[in-house]
Amino acid sequence: MRREQHGATTQADHTAHTAGRVPRHVAIIMDGNGRWAQARGMPRTVGHDAGTENIRRIVRAAVELGIEYLTLWAFSTENWNRPTDEVRWIISLIARSIERELDELDGEGAKLRHIGSFEGLDAELREAVIGAIERTRTNDRITLTLAFNYGGRAEILHAVKRMLEDRVDPATVDEAVFAQYLHTHDLPDPDLIIRTAGEFRFSGYLPWQAVYAEYWSAPVLWPDFGAAELRQAVAVYGQRERKFGGLAVLHSPAAPADPPAERQP
Ligand code: FPP
Repeated sequence: MRREQHGATTQADHTAHTAGRVPRHVAIIMDGNGRWAQARGMPRTVGHDAGTENIRRIVRAAVELGIEYLTLWAFSTENWNRPTDEVRWIISLIARSIERELDELDGEGAKLRHIGSFEGLDAELREAVIGAIERTRTNDRITLTLAFNYGGRAEILHAVKRMLEDRVDPATVDEAVFAQYLHTHDLPDPDLIIRTAGEFRFSGYLPWQAVYAEYWSAPVLWPDFGAAELRQAVAVYGQRERKFGGLAVLHSPAAPADPPAERQP
């Protein structure tokens, strides 16, 4: 089932889409590129190259698992604080990757989305992203959202400012109305958030949308996070009980033949 409009995801949505125990929307914080490179005595930029290569195999694995929405955090609003050369490298990587991978992503049936701000980014990148989004608009196997120049607080502030500009009547504001002003207005809330490199922080990733998300910290660095690691995270998700603040269990643990151990690093 594909929804035309999202906003706040309801309990009924979750119930329907978690029936198969596969998270409908997986959002990943790709962490550990720098450490991956440094462990090999190489510059951090090499880690970002390896991390970018990894995106291709994770998109493939996500399609095979039946994940409908994959959201990857590539660059945060706070990442501007890194050395200029590294910032330039990551941004140019995003631009080059979109150009290089677009045919394949389109062939895989991936629909591209972007969340975040274009502020501070050059027009060339903006045009490339808009072009990729337009070209893949009708694809429906997986929605691949790249979060870059994204910060959760910045997103919420942006939404509030736009509501004020629109002179929205406060009496009409509820969660669904607010969600329509977020960058994610056409995406369901994430069911599973994964952060690699053994980290447990959210760092402002989808703060509004993640309130009922399940969390998984993968011990491996992002370039080493492959299909097997994604499958493990999804299997653990399938073992979780989701209640959404109520008492009824809306998503009971699945009963796989060989349940994975839920072990955090
Ligand atoms: C975190 O590792 C990684 C980033 C801040 C950048 C991730 C960007 C990419 C994988 C390129 C994205 C490209 C496309 C096409 C979306 P880190 O540098 O914080 O690693 P560390 O914690 O080990 O230092």
